[in-house]
Amino acid sequence: MKVVLLGPPGVGKGTQARRLSEILGVPRIITGDMLRRHVASDTSLGRKARGFMERGELVHDDLIIAMIRERLEDEDAREGFIIDGFPRTVAQAEAFEAHVTPDVVVALEAAEGELIERLSGRRVCRECQAVYHLVHDPPRRSGVCDRCGGELVHREDDTEEVIRERLRAYRRETEPLVHRYAAKGLLARVRSEGGIGEVTRKLQAVLHDRRLA
Ligand code: AP5
Repeated sequence: MKVVLLGPPGVGKGTQARRLSEILGVPRIITGDMLRRHVASDTSLGRKARGFMERGELVHDDLIIAMIRERLEDEDAREGFIIDGFPRTVAQAEAFEAHVTPDVVVALEAAEGELIERLSGRRVCRECQAVYHLVHDPPRRSGVCDRCGGELVHREDDTEEVIRERLRAYRRETEPLVHRYAAKGLLARVRSEGGIGEVTRKLQAVLHDRRLA
């Protein structure tokens, strides 16, 4: 099962990639998490990516393509994966398709006001990167990760100004991929509304219809 999740910032790609990965036992590849680990570990890639991420701009294609190519060669990704955050540009899509044909590309959709509300209330675990929302998916103890006890923080790129830039980058660079995959007959559109569990059920229905799960 080779599934791509596309969609604007805050639509729920990471949340759904984690849930589907656990339910279906398929590895998840989340480019934002991979990059944030590089930044936290101060690797060469992390140093190159940091400024772009802080400003809400896309990291250069060649860096991202090399990072994903290496990850897709790992043993656990050979049989399938759920990928969130890649491809995000036409150049990334072309590089991806030279190696892999996705089974389905799901475009998650929600109104812009909803995206901003979700990102404003998002909290992430500093240790394990688990994602919460103050209202829609709160932790049991305020400020503490249910999974590992780590500290929950507001992502540095979740300020209003940077969110606006991320949305602009999405509309300019990534939205054309929705049309690209529609033209290839690979696209499924899913409204990311009705609660996190409901969206997971809609995604499972898409995978079931395509005989992937
Ligand atoms: P990345 O981390 O991928 O950021 P993003 O695309 O802006 O997406 P988000 O992680 O903000 O949102 P999400 O859709 O995963 O939402 P989530 O599930 O957390 O990338 C960060 C940066 O890295 C980029 O800006 C760029 O610089 C760089 N980068 C990454 N990939 C790149 C690439 N391929 N090329 C170049 N640069 C790249 O949910 C959000 C909140 O909503 C959470 O609090 C959640 O609990 C809540 N929520 C989720 N679903 C629901 C629901 N159905 N109802 C109510 N609340 C919900």
